[in-house]
Amino acid sequence: MQLRHAAAAAAVVLSLSLFLLPSTTNAHNITRILAKYPEFSTFSHYLTVTQLAPEINRRETITVCAVDNAGMADLLSKHLTIGAIKNVLSLHVLLDYFDAKKLHQITDGTALAATIFQATGSAPGSTGFVNITDLKGGKVGFSPQDNGGGVSATFVKTVQAIPYNISVIQISAILPSPEAEAPAPGPSEMNLTALMSAHGCKVFAETLLANPAEQTFESNVQSGLTVFCPGDDAMKSFMPKFKNLSADGKQSLLEYHGMPIYQSLSGLRSSNGLTNSLATDGAKKYDFTVQNDGTDVTIKTKIVTAKIVNTLIDEQPLAIYELDKVLMPKELFKSALPPSPAPAPAPEADAESPKKAPKKHKSPPAPAAPSDSPADAPDGDVADQTADNASVRFNGGRFGAVILSLWFVFLQM
Ligand SMILES: *[C@@H]1O[C@H](CO)[C@@H](O)[C@H](O)[C@H]1NC(C)=O
Ligand SMILES: *[C@@H]1O[C@H](CO)[C@@H](O)[C@H](O)[C@H]1NC(C)=O
Ligand SMILES: *[C@@H]1O[C@H](CO)[C@@H](O)[C@H](O)[C@H]1NC(C)=O
Ligand SMILES: *[C@@H]1O[C@H](CO)[C@@H](O)[C@H](O)[C@H]1NC(C)=O
Ligand SMILES: *[C@@H]1O[C@H](CO)[C@@H](O)[C@H](O)[C@H]1NC(C)=O
Ligand SMILES: *[C@@H]1O[C@H](CO)[C@@H](O)[C@H](O)[C@H]1NC(C)=O
Repeated sequence: MQLRHAAAAAAVVLSLSLFLLPSTTNAHNITRILAKYPEFSTFSHYLTVTQLAPEINRRETITVCAVDNAGMADLLSKHLTIGAIKNVLSLHVLLDYFDAKKLHQITDGTALAATIFQATGSAPGSTGFVNITDLKGGKVGFSPQDNGGGVSATFVKTVQAIPYNISVIQISAILPSPEAEAPAPGPSEMNLTALMSAHGCKVFAETLLANPAEQTFESNVQSGLTVFCPGDDAMKSFMPKFKNLSADGKQSLLEYHGMPIYQSLSGLRSSNGLTNSLATDGAKKYDFTVQNDGTDVTIKTKIVTAKIVNTLIDEQPLAIYELDKVLMPKELFKSALPPSPAPAPAPEADAESPKKAPKKHKSPPAPAAPSDSPADAPDGDVADQTADNASVRFNGGRFGAVILSLWFVFLQM
């Protein structure tokens, strides 16, 4: 009896953890590349600790400027927070491919390279760019762009080059950057709405601030939160519909744009399926489907398919992604549901032009494009329905509790 329980528990835990661990289909693995070189062990360790390693692995056409253990000792002697170390190291990952040959052949002898530090939006102004300069005697210099013309470090050697996916080179020292070293607030201390306002989701942020849903978001940050905020254009054109909702409806609509767990972009890419939202509450499902579409990640409700167009922040325990559309749950917009499977063309559809923008849903009462065949109805619910049985539902606390209790059963053996 107990044995059976344990076996079942083990199976569930195993399948759940398989589901949670992103399948690793990355072309390169910076940890593995550096593992062959003991002189970069500290650098490699901090790439892992700061979670930059998965970020590096998921990107292509990049250059990692590694420094040896002595160089890292200089950095660590400053006793920076992990957030600041992450910023400093992310200044050492260039978003272009530079191997030794390319470095020595830079057009006009100087080039500016964007870095992950710049790409995360944590870098103020033009900080976050690295100036690469061909120096006399065949040397190559590196310095943060705002370094006042001085050269901070020089090219030492090629560590590994995998054209044109990743080049790992050694430079002589850590690039100094007061901006990167400034103590970065941990994600849990960040002001959610300020972060969204500053990066293209101002309308959503302001709507949230005026609603009790804001508390729901805030109270989930510590334990893990993923926010899908519609961009300003999407949110603006949705406002008439939003204003039409009841107070409860407004709160649910906003909470529908959050997930009670942290999901990195690579995690979202590799874990397609039905997902609960912050609005999920017992019988009120308020769920949606995360689904890959090539390299895009889409969020599908029965009514609308939105695409992630931007990452505002992706740092445990908080991720915020911008969507190109507002997510419309079927619970609130029943009348906008596409007609059920049988694609018999409705004759009255001839009245309006049937081919007109099948993606857009007009005002809720109008039956949406009844002439949509399942194949060319990207917003249709065909995929959703097939996904229903195959997917795992997860919901922050409850999900964790299930794992914990299963483990408990398991351990009791
Ligand atoms: C570079 O990355 C692509 C895409 O991930 C992969 O298909 C290819 O095999 C990689 N090239 C090398 C040399 O590893
Ligand atoms: C990368 O390589 C390291 C060391 O070989 C390994 O522990 C880690 O699981 C690998 N990561 C991925 C994403 O494959
Ligand atoms: C890069 O730095 C060099 C001096 O180190 C300077 O002459 C050059 O103008 C800088 N390039 C850019 C693009 O800022
Ligand atoms: C976040 O910033 C907004 C202004 O953008 C402010 O109204 C709000 O109170 C702040 N929230 C927290 C939790 O500090
Ligand atoms: C608001 O609701 C009313 C009544 O349900 C409906 O007639 C109207 O079209 C709705 N307006 C919008 C913009 O959805
Ligand atoms: C899902 O499972 C239920 C019961 O197990 C079954 O009746 C239903 O047909 C399944 N739906 C799909 C889409 O496979």
